[in-house]
Order: sequence, then structure tokens, then C-alpha cells
Amino acid sequence: MPNTKKRLAVFCSGSGSNFQALFYAIIERALPAEFVLCLSNRPECGAMDFAREQGMETLHLSDKQFGSLDEFAAAMVTALKERHIDYILLAGYMRKVPEAVVRAYADRILNIHPALLPQFGGEGMYGINVHTAVIEAGETESGATVHMVNEEYDKGRIVMQGRVPVLKSDTPEILAARVLECEHTLYPDALEKVLDEHQ
Ligand code: GAR
Repeated sequence: MPNTKKRLAVFCSGSGSNFQALFYAIIERALPAEFVLCLSNRPECGAMDFAREQGMETLHLSDKQFGSLDEFAAAMVTALKERHIDYILLAGYMRKVPEAVVRAYADRILNIHPALLPQFGGEGMYGINVHTAVIEAGETESGATVHMVNEEYDKGRIVMQGRVPVLKSDTPEILAARVLECEHTLYPDALEKVLDEHQ
């Protein structure tokens, strides 16, 4: 029987807790997908360590390795095509995905953002900055958004959102932890939905 599993690449820059949640959810839910590549702008990070532990291929790719952004983008597209990647999952990837890659994988790149888009998105809105802005704005609710990636920062089609309360006593770090916990079920749910839709 042919292997009909979708081939996934994960792009990470940090601890990789979303990547791990996705990895285990795929196994537990028997989703028709498998991670075959972990790509990072940082050779040493939690996500790359986890991938190595699982025997998964890792690829350190950074614009600093190339003479121009076009060369970097072309190398990324080639690396993905060579490995027959079907979907890219951004999981704490703190770089903008080059436009050539977005074009090559239209409607095939998912991102998780730690707020309720379209609010608290865009340039500079990543990691702890997002939670600081949410608290400073006096919001009583925050959450996470899984969306498709297009050429505009955090503006692609929303696939799924999860909500958490913001408490008066929250620091950005406490809120970040609550949102992250929500992300760990939201991202697998969203992946499952996309795989169903694209069947
Ligand atoms: C997550 O909260 C994710 O939503 C956020 O970084 C964290 C990564 O954690 N991503 C962004 O801010 C991207 N704009 P992880 O490495 O433990 O998955």
C-alpha cells in the first residue's frame, strides 16, 4: 500500500514545545502525517535537540549563510522540494518566511501566534512582546491563533483560535504560560482540521 502520509517540515527557533505537542498528537491521534524535517535558524535549540533525539533530520538554515536574501530563499525552497515536503508548520519560528517559500507553498504553511489575531499581530509582535501588549491594553481575554501564512505578517486565513482569560494579577510570563498550554491542544486540532480539509 502506498504511503499516503503528508510529509511535514517544522520551522522552529526556540524550545519547541509546540513541535513536541504536534509530534506526539500525530502519533496518539494516528493522523496521516509525519515530520521529516526540523529546520531552524539556530543550530542549537530545544526544538533541534528534540528532533535529533527522534532521529529526525535537522537543517540549520540562516540568511547569514548566504550572500543575499534571494539565495537564502532559493536554498530553502530547494531543501523543501528535495525532501518532498507537503506542509510547513511554523512553531515558534522567529523569522519571516521568505516570499519565494510562501509562494511555493501557498495554503500549505501554518503558523501559531500567541494572541487572538487580527489583534496583537504584525511586525515586532512575537513571544513575550505579545503578552506585554495584551496586558498593557487591559484585555480580559487572550488566546492563540493558528493561521495560514501569506505574504503579509500574521494576516493569512484563520484556521482555529483558542481563548484563555487574562487575570488582573497576570505578568506577561504568567499569561504566556497559560496561552502556551492552550497552544499545545489548539495546534494539533488545527493540523487535524487542515488535513481533513485537504483530503
Ligand atoms: C509560542 O508561544 C508561539 O506561539 C510563539 O512562540 C512560542 C514558541 O514556543 N510564536 C510567536 O510568537 C511567532 N510570532 P515553543 O518553541 O515552546 O513552541
